[in-house]
Amino acid sequence: MTEIKIDISNAAEVPDGLSRRADKANRLLHTGGGAGDGYLGWVNLPSSMSTEELDRIKSIAASLREKADVIISIGIGGSYLGARAVIEALGDGFRELRGVAGPQVVFAGNNLSEDYIWELLDALKERSIAVVVISKSGTTLEPALAFRIIKAEMERRYGRGEAAARTVVVTDARRGALKEMADREGYVSLVIPDDVGGRYSVLSPAGLLPIACAGIDTDELMRGARDMEALSGADVPYAENPAAVYAAARNELYAKGFKVEILANYEPRLQYLSEWWKQLFGESEGKDGRGIFPASVNFTADLHSLGQYIQDGERTVFETVLSVAQSAHRVVVESDPANPDGLDYLAGRRIGEINRVAEKGVTMAHVEGGVPNIRIEIPEITPYYIGALIYLFEKACGISGYILGVNPFDQPGVEAYKRNMFALLGK
Ligand code: PA5
Repeated sequence: MTEIKIDISNAAEVPDGLSRRADKANRLLHTGGGAGDGYLGWVNLPSSMSTEELDRIKSIAASLREKADVIISIGIGGSYLGARAVIEALGDGFRELRGVAGPQVVFAGNNLSEDYIWELLDALKERSIAVVVISKSGTTLEPALAFRIIKAEMERRYGRGEAAARTVVVTDARRGALKEMADREGYVSLVIPDDVGGRYSVLSPAGLLPIACAGIDTDELMRGARDMEALSGADVPYAENPAAVYAAARNELYAKGFKVEILANYEPRLQYLSEWWKQLFGESEGKDGRGIFPASVNFTADLHSLGQYIQDGERTVFETVLSVAQSAHRVVVESDPANPDGLDYLAGRRIGEINRVAEKGVTMAHVEGGVPNIRIEIPEITPYYIGALIYLFEKACGISGYILGVNPFDQPGVEAYKRNMFALLGK
């Protein structure tokens, strides 16, 4: 059972009518009948994924890890951010300094930077590579271009047959250019279910394969997600459902004029979780002229930059703090009787304790300064709690979108730039 705590006492009092709407929205996600209800496959993904399916993902990842030093995960948006969020949260951030050999996951296809792809391929010259290409539509420009370039490089290096053996595709079961290529070239492929949209797909093969390629425990990730699925189930009453409470609180704040939500973390590992969260909420809610603008800060670093705005700028922002109760490691401040830096008053205290005191001080200052504060606490950063948190945010996003009155599962706005870009490129 997860021990994720959510505290909205510094944020908003949720009126009964709104908590009832949150409950109703939650039930609609389970029964269908709401907007975009053809895309609710993610709701039961943790509990419905069979052991065989997860084992197949793990065994494909294991075979890629055997073949290659570096696995290039190609994808953008929902086919990128979730996997990156989990890998950054749970991987070894200093592996290069430590000289860790063994397979490593790097990312491509999430930008159109010529220098990025050149530098990546240049850095991989002496390393054996494999590739995972993730695209539900199979036609998105950025990943398709990156794959074309990396495929050619792999075929030059290994020949067509071996390059194909080092390629795994995650895409739609039937449609798209990537699916056709997979059939033609004989790539191993995994399916993103029809009824799971990109930004809700991290707990499907789209996220799980690259995560498993990075050596992260996907069983635990899914166990955490499964427990959160149960904790936010259709029949769980509002007050006991953390996803409903979070969704209702942020909607109450929005109704009061707080248009910007800043997700704050105090652990650098969680930076990409915020990037994923921004995509999840931004693409799901920002439409029809409505929606909270999702932003993020990494504290304490950003206290020395955006902290000023949060404390003193326009009073339209609220903060959701992602708090971690327990550090994984212990670092204690040494005592120095000469006290040259004046820090001896901290001697004997753990850095994690100082971090948590900083968090408390910042929260008090921001709340006093007119920034409502929602607090979500996880006990520690482990696959289990990251899985639970991912599901919590997905569920809250679905509920929140329904409360707001939008379809949280489409993204009509992203077509506008594509039309211009493709016309200018002469497609
Ligand atoms: O949430 C979404 O649907 C989008 O962000 C997609 O994930 C993104 O556009 C990538 O699409 P695809 O996986 O089809 O390449």
